[in-house]
Amino acid sequence: MTKPELGVCYYPEHWPEETWAEDARQMADLGLTWVRIGEFAWSRLEPARGRYEFDWLERAIDILASAGLKVVLGTPTATPPKWLVDEMAEMLAVDADGKTRGFGSRRHYCFSHDGYFEECRRITNELAKRFGTNHGVHAWQTDNEYGCHDSVHSYSSAALREFRIWLSQKYQSPEALNRAWGNVFWSMEYASFDEIELPNLTVTEANPSHWMDFHRFSSEQVVKFNHLQVEIIRRHSPERPVIHNFMGRTLSFDHFDLGEDLDISSWDSYPLGFLSDRSDRPNDFALRYAKSGDPDFQAFHHDLYRATSGGRWWVMEQQPGPVNWATHNTAPNDGMVRLWSWEAIAHGAEVVSYFRWRQAPFGQEQMHSGILRPDSVPAHAFSEVSQTASELTAVDGIEIGKSDVAVVFDYPSAWAWKIQPQGTEFDYFRLVYDHYCALRRLGLSIDFQNAANPDLSGYKLVLVPGLFSWNQQLLEEMRKTEAQIVVGPRSGSKTGDFQIPGDLPPDLPADMLDLKVARVESYPENLEINVPGSGSFKFWREHAQAGSTASVLLDAEDGSPALIRQGNNTYLAGWGDDEFLRNILQDVTERAGLSTFNVPEGLSFRRNGKMIFAFNYSRENINLNELGIEAEYLLGGSNLAPSDVSIGKLT
Ligand code: GAL
Repeated sequence: MTKPELGVCYYPEHWPEETWAEDARQMADLGLTWVRIGEFAWSRLEPARGRYEFDWLERAIDILASAGLKVVLGTPTATPPKWLVDEMAEMLAVDADGKTRGFGSRRHYCFSHDGYFEECRRITNELAKRFGTNHGVHAWQTDNEYGCHDSVHSYSSAALREFRIWLSQKYQSPEALNRAWGNVFWSMEYASFDEIELPNLTVTEANPSHWMDFHRFSSEQVVKFNHLQVEIIRRHSPERPVIHNFMGRTLSFDHFDLGEDLDISSWDSYPLGFLSDRSDRPNDFALRYAKSGDPDFQAFHHDLYRATSGGRWWVMEQQPGPVNWATHNTAPNDGMVRLWSWEAIAHGAEVVSYFRWRQAPFGQEQMHSGILRPDSVPAHAFSEVSQTASELTAVDGIEIGKSDVAVVFDYPSAWAWKIQPQGTEFDYFRLVYDHYCALRRLGLSIDFQNAANPDLSGYKLVLVPGLFSWNQQLLEEMRKTEAQIVVGPRSGSKTGDFQIPGDLPPDLPADMLDLKVARVESYPENLEINVPGSGSFKFWREHAQAGSTASVLLDAEDGSPALIRQGNNTYLAGWGDDEFLRNILQDVTERAGLSTFNVPEGLSFRRNGKMIFAFNYSRENINLNELGIEAEYLLGGSNLAPSDVSIGKLT
């Protein structure tokens, strides 16, 4: 693996020009090599239509480059300026209640507005022409965090127009659409594509097939929007990688589809903000880790986003201290900024870049910390960044390879179960996350595979939880592999049109899994059904009927099959609690010939071939020897203090 590097997000337009050179010098002295700039600067790059003021940006890039820093230049399309919005007010996105999303923050545009699309083409083109071959520009970032602030779905007239075109291309005739959606139900049949509305503002729920297509359409609009910028950048700036920064727990568009256009995926990692605001963990857990973050959440996203652009990935924004946007904004325990940085590297990050250089004394994020305080004095993170940079120089020999376990991930499934949860707790992310965490408790490292285009070769264990609908390639890969495969719950329970399959779920050929799910139930929190000796099902359980070639391995307490197996395919007929998942996965892991470790809750552990990486999120010492781990250490040792890092090779 090439030596990982560190970087920072910087806003030269926020600071007097006289400070730039000193900032750049200090960044380089700290050991940073990358700096991302420009992604919100449209009002300074083009203060009025056609008046391009790029000289200041060029001076900033020159200064940063002379200090030895490599610039990632962002396109400013997440923040269209006031003059532009005033010129074409219909470019603003409209929320599901029909309210226009106003100017005054960011991400206020509708992906479907062709006028805004052209404006993005224009500004990206101007920037790429001017800076495409600039010696200081080494990479590009498109826009900023698509989907953040719930900005993928717009219910504007532009979206409606485009949606109708999209539907007419997909279905060719209103009759075909009526059939696919089942529009005979409630007299919803259409005689023409022009009659179709967006699925918001209906009296009660709109048709799930209608919603599903709206999700697909909206996701494709994001991909198209990004593609436009990537093409322009590639034309004017060959050889420089194009990156986008994804956000945590954002499922509103298909990151795999978008990632196909990127050279490098990246994401913005805010462990404390996420635990406060984007977690399903119980309150006592959230309190335990309030100052270190959920020990599995970062790893999950590192692994997921690594899969979205063929393996190359960065952390574009790393939390450096308290943020401003969560319900509560704790400060990390000492050592955590270093720990998060190393943890990303352990999952293969090429660069970890901190957000942001200096805390801004003005604007919405004035309470968000940086590496420097607003008065330019080093903030808490400074010394940890410095330590990480020196360690990165000193430590050699880190290898990251393929994992033994794959989890099949599918953005459309996230949309499907949001549209039709059938029980409020049924959330796709939560379901996959529970399975992922159970694998991690066994010390297994995980790769994600895109359900639409998977390559299952070489894996020993494959999980397919909650998959909305099968596709041919996935089925073929599942047939080909010798891995143990764990399917369900709810996998294959719909056709691609969002209907119940004719042969009933899980809709697999009988020679793979001879099984029918005859009835399903959802349970509220704390209502569970016991599976004697193995744990319980919570939130969701199925009443499955096994055919003659499948064997029932476990029954729930009411006698209904809980675990069914045929060959190397195992079916879970419910959402297992921690104990159930642990037991079942331990069993299939053994069948797969994989060795495991018992990893305690506060330990983030990754094993890749002989390499082991251990990160202590807890407040207690953890002794790795006691977990059966014998290694030679490149960093740290077998005794892992709170917030500390150990990296070694198994002996
Ligand atoms: C990210 C965003 C940044 C900044 C940061 C604050 O989501 O990309 O621009 O707002 O959050 O934590």
